[in-house]
Amino acid sequence: MVLQDRFGRKIDYLRISLTPKCNFKCFYCRPQGDCLPEDYPEPLDRREIEKIVKVASDLGITKIRLTGGEPLLKPDLIPIIRYMAAIPGISDISLTTNGFFLARKAAALKKAGLNRVNISLDSLNDERFRSITGGGRLSKIKAGIDAATREGLTPLKINMVVIKGINDDEITDFAALTRDRDIHIRYIEYMPLGDGHSQWQERYLSVKEIMDACGSLGTLEKVEKVKGNGPARYYRLAGHQGVLGFISPISEHFCRECNRFRVTSDGMLKACLFSGEEINLRETVNDEEALKLLFHQALEFKPSPLKPPYLAQNLCQGVRARGMVEIGG
Ligand code: GTP
Ligand code: 5AD
Ligand code: SF4
Repeated sequence: MVLQDRFGRKIDYLRISLTPKCNFKCFYCRPQGDCLPEDYPEPLDRREIEKIVKVASDLGITKIRLTGGEPLLKPDLIPIIRYMAAIPGISDISLTTNGFFLARKAAALKKAGLNRVNISLDSLNDERFRSITGGGRLSKIKAGIDAATREGLTPLKINMVVIKGINDDEITDFAALTRDRDIHIRYIEYMPLGDGHSQWQERYLSVKEIMDACGSLGTLEKVEKVKGNGPARYYRLAGHQGVLGFISPISEHFCRECNRFRVTSDGMLKACLFSGEEINLRETVNDEEALKLLFHQALEFKPSPLKPPYLAQNLCQGVRARGMVEIGG
């Protein structure tokens, strides 16, 4: 039986965090700093991931996104992708990465069956990039973008979390990248996740303000058909090759169209990014029928799409204790 909740939302998209480890330390994503607690649970291994994906596919999941932490740090990543690509029901396998290891791995990823990548990149300025990421080198990300484009891991999307006073003066620099390149620049509203959001109110910028900034470069034309499974709304600056995507979890929540479940690296099934409810899949990983029941049980934890304030209120009270690095976005 396919996955459909009591509000009629069909779940056909699974985001799997492969590891909580990351080589970067973006301040908004890792509020706890660079170390996870020593007793942090081991990530799922290849066999466990494969069993979960198999069951998910039997339940109508057709699209998989691999996240982290940094998913390119996962041992066995290539065989895991190969396994997924061989399942007939899986039609789209994508990966969200910081791009650092991409130049080296793009060819092998493509060969294994990965369809496309989304790259998190918050600044085009070397010094600022280093500061946001806690030491990252921008040149490596640029090389990663080039390699992924060359290998056809496309459409290639760049995710910029817009944070007032940190990188909002670069909104148009990012938009300008679409002029001569068929690249997707996506702006994400800053969300107050984990416990590192004390300055969130001052740092938050809405999609409306971000679009206004982009509009200073030309006319924004709506684009309807873009390959993707997420909540972005797309526009093109007149005459530009690439497109701009806008993701508004705060100002215009998109729960009504929510089509996804998440699995954390330690094997917890989450029906909603912001919900504290989690179901342990790992304990049941060897029993396909029991796993299926857990997926159905998770449907009950999908929050009502009819109560938007629920979202912002919960966020602002900091109900969620996990940082994004643990959930994978
Ligand atoms: P496409 O299939 O290419 O559209 O990917 P995607 O947008 O689903 O994936 P990506 O990992 O690039 O997600 C971009 C960001 O959008 C995430 O990291 C989150 O910040 C935000 N986002 C995605 N899904 C949700 C969601 O269900 N709820 C909320 N609040 N934010 C989300
Ligand atoms: N607000 C918005 N986006 C976030 N991401 C991580 N933390 C936040 C936050 N607090 C984004 C990353 C990446 C994706 C996995 O999640 O930049 O694009
Ligand atoms: Fe789905 Fe929860 Fe995100 Fe809303 S907040 S779109 S229900 S994951």
